[in-house]
Amino acid sequence: MRHFLDLKDFTKDALEAMLQDGLAMRKALKSGEQHAQPLAGKHIGMIFEKQSTRTRVSFEVGISQLGGTPIVLSASDMQIGRGESISDTAKVLSGYLDGIMIRCLSHNTLMGLSDNASIPVINGLTDTSHPCQVMADMMTMLDAHGVIEGQIVCWAGDGNNMAVSWIEAAAVMGFELRLACPSGYEPPADIIAWARDKGASIILHDDVLEAAKDAHVIVTDVWISMGDEEGTRVQDMTPFQVNDDVMSAAAPDAIFMHCLPAIRDMEVTASVIDGNQSMVWQEAENRLHAQKAILAYCCGEKA
Ligand code: CP
Ligand code: NVA
Repeated sequence: MRHFLDLKDFTKDALEAMLQDGLAMRKALKSGEQHAQPLAGKHIGMIFEKQSTRTRVSFEVGISQLGGTPIVLSASDMQIGRGESISDTAKVLSGYLDGIMIRCLSHNTLMGLSDNASIPVINGLTDTSHPCQVMADMMTMLDAHGVIEGQIVCWAGDGNNMAVSWIEAAAVMGFELRLACPSGYEPPADIIAWARDKGASIILHDDVLEAAKDAHVIVTDVWISMGDEEGTRVQDMTPFQVNDDVMSAAAPDAIFMHCLPAIRDMEVTASVIDGNQSMVWQEAENRLHAQKAILAYCCGEKA
């Protein structure tokens, strides 16, 4: 059975194959060709413990385009919202569904679901990772520069769930990742150690301009993720804002990415996110195409 839990679980060949499959499906969709239907007759559940715009809509549309039936479940409307265990939920849903995408507060819930389900489970964001988003981001790197390996990616701001998936992607795909995070907001040491052990080039910076120097990709995310306390985050992260100076330090053809939602003039200035190096709308659309490949890989007829 094929889950999609984290990028570190995959080989470079496997991720590349999914990205190519997503690109092929995008091309077919845009040219009006008959769409492949690998999910025909299948029902895919989507459990949300947190808010979502992109994940919710791109998965729902993607499942439909692949011939499947999406069922959106808000955790607060389910019995897990009243304390039913995730293991019991996994066993029950396995009897009805052909796959589950879950967005959950704790990564342990994802693991509890995948350990107890007899159907594929896809990670739609946890407190520690967001692999579907980074697949779409890598597709966007291909759109911009035609290559992933050997690129220099600069992550600015919070060492959060997105940063963790970027670290895993760097290790698997072979690009350099520079992380400019304030002290106390670095990504977890164990994932950095894991990536470096695999030979990945993961460099921590305390100066965003230095981290951005000659980079091909500049990427950031909100300073206060879902479930985070505000505390002194805004104050602490302010020196790590992506602004015109940061973009000027990067390579001349550098792109800007952000998983969205964004708060203009906090983690990124309006001039950057709405400027001509920004690929955020393409990146958001690529969620649909990348996830269709993930769904076909996990739940399709060849899975
Ligand atoms: N980027 C992302 O996952 O967006 P949503 O929270 O809207 O799903
Ligand atoms: N880091 C953000 C990503 C939102 C898509 C969060 O977890 O809220």
